[in-house]
Amino acid sequence: AEEYPKVKRTANFKILDSTDVSYFRSILSNDEILQSQSPEDLVSFNQDWMKKYRGQSNLILLPKSTEKVSKIMKYCNDNKLAVVPQGGNTDLVGASVPVFDEIVLSLRNLNKIRDFDPVSGTFKCDAGVVMRDAHQYLHEHDHIFPLDLPSRNNCHVGGVVSTNAGGLNLLRYGSLHGNVLGLEVVLPNGEIISNMNALRKDNTGYDLKQLFIGAEGTIGVITGVSILAAAKPKAVNAVFFGLDCFDTVQKLFVKAKSELSEILSAFEFMDRGSIECTIEYLKDLPFPLKNQHNFYVLIETSGSNKNHDDEKLSAFVSETLNSKLISEGVMAKDKADYDRIWTWRKSVPTACNSYGGMYKYDMSLQLKDLYSVSEAVTERLNAAGLIGDAPKPIVKSCGYGHVGDGNIHLNIAVREFTKQIENLLEPFVYEYIQSKKGSISAEHGVGFHKKGKLHYSRSDIEIRFMKDIKNHYDPNGILNPYKYI
Ligand code: MLT
Ligand code: ZN
Repeated sequence: AEEYPKVKRTANFKILDSTDVSYFRSILSNDEILQSQSPEDLVSFNQDWMKKYRGQSNLILLPKSTEKVSKIMKYCNDNKLAVVPQGGNTDLVGASVPVFDEIVLSLRNLNKIRDFDPVSGTFKCDAGVVMRDAHQYLHEHDHIFPLDLPSRNNCHVGGVVSTNAGGLNLLRYGSLHGNVLGLEVVLPNGEIISNMNALRKDNTGYDLKQLFIGAEGTIGVITGVSILAAAKPKAVNAVFFGLDCFDTVQKLFVKAKSELSEILSAFEFMDRGSIECTIEYLKDLPFPLKNQHNFYVLIETSGSNKNHDDEKLSAFVSETLNSKLISEGVMAKDKADYDRIWTWRKSVPTACNSYGGMYKYDMSLQLKDLYSVSEAVTERLNAAGLIGDAPKPIVKSCGYGHVGDGNIHLNIAVREFTKQIENLLEPFVYEYIQSKKGSISAEHGVGFHKKGKLHYSRSDIEIRFMKDIKNHYDPNGILNPYKYI
């Protein structure tokens, strides 16, 4: 909410009136509309998960069909009413909440699984299907959704596609740009563009669906997704390691790729700050290692033969321990142990958020530079005396992420947001990333948080192309306004 005064409401957008609401009531049933004179009543739609961004919408539309989404969009376009599409609202850059009085178009009621073909692995569903439900359905059919995230219990399939989230297993299953086989999208003028046929290959000109993957709802509303599910691994396991330095993390990664090869399915790292925060947050859960370390690595394997995979993994663990590459490591004994090990990784974002609040960065860098951004930032905060040893320091720097994807998340957990901290962090972080030719958003998107910052990672001509695309699809600019484009 602190950041919102930086923009002004666009005067061209119509202010919602009773005629508009009557129109929406004429096409929607009572359970597809939430309206209140007080935006406070609608806070779960107006405010993001981190409680950093908060809009003032009075109207939430929750249509149950693509045709209704189309009618809504056509009406809003004809009448210049601004709209923000919203999935599970777990986004991390202020992309899925209104800034002012935009109508919230929630996809939550578009939640049917449409089709699954166990031979090809093609899964088709509405955009509002919760990721957990997609996982569960596919599990029952011996498959898995090709993406998993800490927010899986709330995020929507359409939302992760709009965000182009990467998740915990990108290393194994690849990105959504490869796994999404087709999309159904409602354009701002109400037209429905659909290529849900799900062909693995289709080289007839531009691959239009790619534009909507990661567009964050700025040029169309994704209403349906066709995606390639992977066969369910018959055996999974995990190990948790403690290490001294990031150099060793990289060595371990090389070794894991070469020795675990086809069964390697995740390689995640966390630094000391991330785990300290998570220990405080998880309180009663016993930490899997005896000692605390500078770095921790979680390695997951997924394969088809439990004995073979476990043998391979335990040989890998003994060898790394014997060669003194790592200081300490444990391998899960059973499924409950495996889940517990993952809890230490998946809880990091919530643990940081519970500290008070967090400044959050999500960056891509060359692997050799991946942790250097955290060191540079920590040094600045340290020099300002903010990272003390007090029972609870003002600032806690937490770096973690997806080593295989060259993606670090840097959460600067704070007791409160202050201008001093903000000025130490920005534009420093962005300039640092630019100097290393990295990306200021690896997988969380740009949203409102990184509005005006694309130039740190994109050239003028790329930004011009993006604006051309936005103007082409959404000439009135009604879709998810005030955000990055
Ligand atoms: C993660 O890797 O845990 C997700 O990107 C979420 C986050 O960093 O908050
Ligand atoms: Zn992540």
